[in-house]
Formats: sequence, structure tokens, C-alpha cells
Amino acid sequence: MHKLEYFSTPLWTEYKPEFVKLLNKASNEYIKAARKRDEKSIKKTRDFGMAHHSNPITQDKRFVTFRDYVGQKSRDFLDWQGFDMTKYVTMFSEMWVQEFSKRGGGHHSAHHHWNQHVSGFYFLKCSDKTSFPIFHDPRAGAIMTKLHQKQLDSVTYASELVHFKPKPGTLIIFPGYVEHEYAVDHGIEPFRFIHWNIQAVPKEMVKNVV
Ligand SMILES: [Fe+2]
Repeated sequence: MHKLEYFSTPLWTEYKPEFVKLLNKASNEYIKAARKRDEKSIKKTRDFGMAHHSNPITQDKRFVTFRDYVGQKSRDFLDWQGFDMTKYVTMFSEMWVQEFSKRGGGHHSAHHHWNQHVSGFYFLKCSDKTSFPIFHDPRAGAIMTKLHQKQLDSVTYASELVHFKPKPGTLIIFPGYVEHEYAVDHGIEPFRFIHWNIQAVPKEMVKNVV
């Protein structure tokens, strides 16, 4: 039999460590401010089970080279998939940095970012002892009709999710329709990453802002 494959889900990943040192330094004050904002909850939980989210970093000059790099890659990602990008401008809806609780328990349940076309992660602090991202099969019909799997520890056509073990400098770009989550962190080593979402807006619409 010939194997045919249609409607597969692309994810791009790249090891890009050259941004790590600079962006960690620039992120420190954002994480400090986020922790200050979360002060009451930190006191209550002794910093357990939380993710400390920064304000937007999109306009900060220290992040511009990185922002331009991942912005172009995200656009290339749509173009490479076959979308006619001559008809669209791509815009960051949001880009921020976050760090999980020092004592562990930090996580994100499975979610989408509504009405986005490309999402991405860049890892600044992580190890084989920290949380990691998990991606879910985005095909609603496939999810509804899954059967028991023979090998839960392998990625197969039957898998309902996959996970990545990133290292500092790992970049992951994926379609906005892919549901993702973060495994519970054990609070052994710091876990910090940048997250962004991008919308493709028709050029015609940009001309017609009301
Ligand atoms: Fe997310």
C-alpha cells in the first residue's frame, strides 16, 4: 500500500542560544515586577503553583532584534505552509516573559489563544528537571474517535499529545490552532520562557480602519 498523508500539523523548532544571555538579563526586571504584582499570592502560597507573567515586552528596545527574528520566522512559517502572505500583514498580538513559582507547582492547563494564527515559545531558563510544553492533536474529529494506544511512550498516528524537552535557547513556532499546556513544575530549578502570538491581518483591512 502507498502511504498518503494529508492535513498534517507542522511545528518548527530551532536551537538559537545566542539570545539567551541578553534576554535573560533584560527579563529580570520584568519578572521582578511581575513577582511584586503577585506579592500577596506569593505570601499566601509561599510561591507555589503560580506563573508570574510580565507586562508586554513587545516594545522594549532590548527585545527588538529577537522580536524581529521570531516575527519574520512566524511569517515564513505561514508562507511555507502555502498561505498567500502577499495579502497579509503580520502583527504581534502579545509577547511576554513568564517564570514559574520557585517552590514548584507552576503549570498551564491546556489552552488556545483565541483568534491567533501563529504562536511561539523561546526558553530562557529550563532543564530536564523543569516543566515542559505539551501539544495536543488539533483535529477535533480525530480526538472524538481515538482508541486505546499500544504504546503510550511513543509518538504514533494514534497519539493525542506530544511533548518537548527544551533547553535554554530552544525556539518553537506552531499554528495558533494547536492547543498547548505546561506540565507541573517541581520547583527544583528555575523555569522561564517567552511566549508570543501573531495575527495575520488582511492588508485591505489595515487600509480600512474605522
Ligand atoms: Fe499559551
